[in-house]
Amino acid sequence: MSISKESELVGMKKVSEAVAITLQQMIAYAKVGMTTMELDNYGAAVLEEFGAKSAPKLTYGFPGHTCISINNEFCHGIPSNRELEEGDLINIDVSAELDGFWSDNGSSFVLGNDVYQHQELVDTSEEILQKAIKKIKGGVLIAGIGQLMETQAKQKGFKVIRNLGGHGIGRALHEPPHDLLNYRDRFDRRRFRKNDVVAIETFISTLSTSVNTSRDGWTLIGNRGGFMAQHEHTIVVTDGEPIVLTELPAN
Ligand code: CO
Ligand code: CO
Repeated sequence: MSISKESELVGMKKVSEAVAITLQQMIAYAKVGMTTMELDNYGAAVLEEFGAKSAPKLTYGFPGHTCISINNEFCHGIPSNRELEEGDLINIDVSAELDGFWSDNGSSFVLGNDVYQHQELVDTSEEILQKAIKKIKGGVLIAGIGQLMETQAKQKGFKVIRNLGGHGIGRALHEPPHDLLNYRDRFDRRRFRKNDVVAIETFISTLSTSVNTSRDGWTLIGNRGGFMAQHEHTIVVTDGEPIVLTELPAN
C-alpha cells in the first residue's frame, strides 16, 4: 500500500507493534526441549492479546499461526511436535492482520550455545538487512538493493536464494511490488516510491541458491542443502531513511 493519510500510518504502526512484540517474545520463550507447536501456540496467544490474526492462516490457510523453520527447513516450516535442540538454527516469521492492516517480520537465531557455528550466517543476514534498509528511499532502484544484498553475502562467502523475495504489504500480506529479490535482476527497472509500505527480507545461505517445496506442501528446502538465515522488516519508504515499522525501541 501507499500511505496517503495519518490514520493509515497509525494502523500500520499498530499491527507492526503486534507482530514485532510477538516475534520478540517467541524468541525469548524458545527453549531446548520445547516443541515448535508449543512455541507457535505461545505466539498465537500474544497475537490474540493484540486482537491480531495470523496472516498466513488467513491468507493461505497455513496450518499454524507463525512459520517456524528449523535447520534444513529454510522457511514456511509448519509448527509440529518436533523438539528444539541446543544449537538449532531457528527461523520464526510472524505476520498478522489487525483492523484491516497487515505487517510481516521475521528473524533467524541460534538456540542456546552455537554448537554448529551458525552465528556468522545469522549475523551476516541481519547486517545485510540493516544495510539494505538504510539505502532504501524514494527513487532508489529495487534491483540496486538486490545487488547490494548479493554483494554483501558473497563478501562473507555466502549465497542468496534467488526464488524468494520481499514484497509490498499493508492492505494484504502480499501486494505489489512483488519479488524484491536478493540479487540484481538487470531487467527490473522498478524503483521504490515514497510512502510505499514494503517488507524487506534477506535470504542468505551457505550452499543453496533456490528453494523447493517439500512433501508437506509448505516447508521450503534448499536445492543444495546447507542452511539459510532470514531477517525481515516492514518499512515505509520516505525521502530519507525509511520508517522501520517492525523495529522495537532498543530499551
Ligand atoms: Co514477507
Ligand atoms: Co515474513
